[in-house]
Amino acid sequence: MRAVWLREFGGPEVLVAGAAPDPVPGPGEALVAVAHANLTFVETQFRATGLGPFTGALPMVPGNGVGGTVTALGPGTDPAWLGRRVVSSTGGSGGYAELAAVPADGLHPVPDGLQLDTATALLADGRTARLLLETAAPAPGERVLVTAAAGGVGTLLVQLATAAGARVLAAAGGPRKLALAAELGAAETADYRQPDWTDGRAPVDLVLDGVGGTLGRAAAGLLRDGGRLLSFGLASGSWTDLPADEAAARALTVLHLRPAPDRIRAATAHALAEAAAGRLRPVIGQRFPLERAADAHRAIEARATLGKTLLDVRP
Ligand SMILES: NC(=O)c1ccc[n+]([C@@H]2O[C@H](COP(=O)([O-])OP(=O)(O)OC[C@H]3O[C@@H](n4cnc5c(N)ncnc54)[C@H](OP(=O)(O)O)[C@@H]3O)[C@@H](O)[C@H]2O)c1
Repeated sequence: MRAVWLREFGGPEVLVAGAAPDPVPGPGEALVAVAHANLTFVETQFRATGLGPFTGALPMVPGNGVGGTVTALGPGTDPAWLGRRVVSSTGGSGGYAELAAVPADGLHPVPDGLQLDTATALLADGRTARLLLETAAPAPGERVLVTAAAGGVGTLLVQLATAAGARVLAAAGGPRKLALAAELGAAETADYRQPDWTDGRAPVDLVLDGVGGTLGRAAAGLLRDGGRLLSFGLASGSWTDLPADEAAARALTVLHLRPAPDRIRAATAHALAEAAAGRLRPVIGQRFPLERAADAHRAIEARATLGKTLLDVRP
C-alpha cells in the first residue's frame, strides 16, 4: 500500500511517501480502506520532537485518525461492520496510509447524510471541543475567550459556546481567521498579532486556550476575578503559566480536561450526530493528497491553515 513514513524526528521533510506492507487485522481489529486522514497540530509536534501523547518506535507510519470503509475484520469482531463507512482513531500510528488496522471497538459509524470527509474532520476536534464545553460549561450570557479560534478545535468551540448562549470573543492571528470566527458566530474578535490586542477589552468569564505561552498568559489576564481557565494545548510551545498565588488572589478556577474513555467515545458520537443534524459545521480549510503530508505539516506549523487539514488518500 501507499503510506507516509517517519524514519527520524525533524522538520516536515522527514515525512516521506513510499510503499508499506498491507496491515492485516488481528484479533479484535478492523481493516479500514482509508479515504481521508485527519491532521492535528500535536502531530506536527510529535513529528518534530517525538514528544507528546503518541508513542511509537521509528520507523513508523504516523497518523492518529482516519475515515474510510471497513474492508476486512480480524477474529472476534462483529461482521456487521464489513462495508460500513467509519471513522476511527488509530492509537497514534498508521493513519497516513491507504489501509489502517484499528481496534473494532473504537470504530464510529458515520451517520447517514454526513460526508466521510466531514466526519473525518470531526473525529479528533469534535470530541475535544465537546469535552471542553462539557468541562467548562459556559452559562448563557457568559463571555468566553477562545484562542486559536479559527483552528480545528477553535472553530468548533466558537460554534458550541455560541450555541450554549455564551458570547464568544474569538482571538486569532490575522483578518482571514477573524472573519471565519465571526461567520461561525463569534460576537467579538481580536487579532492577537497586534501587541495591544487586550487593551480596552471587557473582562471575560472563561478562557478556552489551546495556544499557551505569551498569548495564553495575556488571555488569562482578561479573566474577571472568579473566572475560569481551561488550557488544553501548547501550540506556542509552552503551557499558559498562571502562578498558583495569582490564581488564588484573583479567585480563578483552573480547569483540567481528563475525560474517561467512555466520555471520549460519547463525545465523538455526539459531535458526529450534531454535524449530521446540521448544528455543527467543521471547516475543512485545506486538503492535501497523501503524498504531500510534508506540505500539510508545513502549512500547519506556519499558522497558515484555517479549520481542519485533511489528507485525501483515495477518492
Ligand atoms: N485536535 C485535537 O483533538 C486536540 C486535542 C487535545 C488538545 N489539542 C490542542 O489544541 C490546540 C489546537 O489544536 P488543533 O489541532 O485544533 O490545531 P489548530 O488550532 O488548527 O492549529 C494551531 C493554531 O495555533 C495557533 N498558534 C499560536 N501560536 C502558534 C505557534 N507558535 N505555532 C503554531 N501555531 C500557533 C495558530 O493559530 P493563530 O494563527 O490564529 O494563532 C494555529 O493555526 C493545540 O494546542 C493542540 O495540541 C487538540
